[in-house]
Amino acid sequence: MSLQQTNFAEAPPAPPNIMIIFGAGGDLTSRKLIPALYHLYRANLLPDSFAVVGLDRQELTDDSYREQLGGHIREHVGDGFDRKVWDRLCQRIHFMCGDIKDPQTYESLNELLLSIDEQRSTDNNYLFYLAVPPSLFGEITDHLADNSLLTESDSDWRRVIIEKPFGHDAESARALNQRLHRHLTEQQIYRIDHYLGKETVQNIMVFRFANGFIEPLWNRHHIDHVQITVAESVGVEHRGLYYEEAGALRDMVPNHLLVLLGFLAMEPPNSFDAYAVRDEINKVLDAIQPLTPEQVLQHAVRGQYGEGIMPNGDKVSAYRNSPGVAATSHTETYAALRLGMDNWRWAGVPFYLRTGKRLAEQYSEVAIQFKNAPRTMFKNTETKHMDPDMLVLRIQPNQGIQMSFGAKVPGPTMRVDTVNMDFSYSDYFGNEPATGYETLIYDCMNGDATLFKHAGTVEKGWEIVESVLDVWKALPPRDFPNYSAGSWGPSAAGDLLKIDGRLWRRINTDRL
Ligand code: BG6
Repeated sequence: MSLQQTNFAEAPPAPPNIMIIFGAGGDLTSRKLIPALYHLYRANLLPDSFAVVGLDRQELTDDSYREQLGGHIREHVGDGFDRKVWDRLCQRIHFMCGDIKDPQTYESLNELLLSIDEQRSTDNNYLFYLAVPPSLFGEITDHLADNSLLTESDSDWRRVIIEKPFGHDAESARALNQRLHRHLTEQQIYRIDHYLGKETVQNIMVFRFANGFIEPLWNRHHIDHVQITVAESVGVEHRGLYYEEAGALRDMVPNHLLVLLGFLAMEPPNSFDAYAVRDEINKVLDAIQPLTPEQVLQHAVRGQYGEGIMPNGDKVSAYRNSPGVAATSHTETYAALRLGMDNWRWAGVPFYLRTGKRLAEQYSEVAIQFKNAPRTMFKNTETKHMDPDMLVLRIQPNQGIQMSFGAKVPGPTMRVDTVNMDFSYSDYFGNEPATGYETLIYDCMNGDATLFKHAGTVEKGWEIVESVLDVWKALPPRDFPNYSAGSWGPSAAGDLLKIDGRLWRRINTDRL
């Protein structure tokens, strides 16, 4: 349903298929995947001939698995939960107990799929969703291939959705791509980045390319700089073990933040076709200049939160006290970068990126600051200061677009003040409850890979952050923690802009 259809109600149901979830007992399955299937089912976007097979090591039956999911579904689906819809979807959910590493599991899976196929006429179409630790991606696809579960025919399809992180650097991503390509064509591989499923991220493209007034301004002649903020007020919760290995830069930048940057900076593709869009995004990533070690020292900042008080008054403990985290951990929970692109559209325009855990707000946006207007006309007036015009694309919460610009303050003197025009998606289109995975699962079932990442995109994302990671690894351990929970990150992040004579935009979600 990517882009051509924005309203759930207008889209046709996906073709018959079985979705097989590896890692069915995990958090992602109960928090995101099953609620997304619930939303799709409620919107009549799943076909009659549809089933889910959850696979995990727990000793569960179909019924006890359904019960386990049912215990959380209301909480994850939120308002408007419809028990009848859930009960009907439940009847299509099966469970298989199996060890992912045991070849026997795949023989049993094959038999189970054939029997469900027969029962529900799912046309032998299988969507494998790998919601498992990355070290298992290669092994699972090897086993699936050994049992001919990845072999397509003219009448059926086999697709694999791979969760992030896809590798931990460029080399491991390349190795994983090669391993997957042994059994799968690129068209069968759907590398997921749930930011691509967010309506506002897709809307960056629509805003830029469906509106005649924007595109002529979207370049280095008119734009001073861009700020991308993905701030989280949550900590690492129970993911300490994973996060210790990843850190903020790996966890968020090569995927989510570069996705935002890709959509912002791309040239207009000729169509919404997956290859046309992905090619343009790859060109953006290609144009990003890797930072030299000297530039990393100036243009990259890392931080780790210590204890602090959140704006709601909650006292929270330091990252180092989180479960699974070493007491002397040097893993960064905050990263900020200044990137530049060497192409005709963007040369000389800095892109500042920042992301972190336990920041003051749970908030993501892209802010585009336009160049200052000349002041000559106002020099003998009451206008002492004029803010630059700013366009803010709010990603979450309260998706929307805000434009701030100068307007005359009413009265006899010539005084200019900054005013805001604000558009909120929910005011206009209403609120469609969604996890962000609905679009992606539905698109995969329909064979539309536009919102999934190409092999090259993932590798390039890693190459961009690797130059920073290498320098950080070589430097002596940082003086962590260097920012308090509930703040806006380390002070050095401010200096990143200050040396360019700029400031991070002040985020105030109270007014949203
Ligand atoms: C995930 C990261 O990919 O994205 C998490 O691993 C992060 O650490 C999450 O919290 C953020 O997603 P969202 O949709 O809440 O912005």
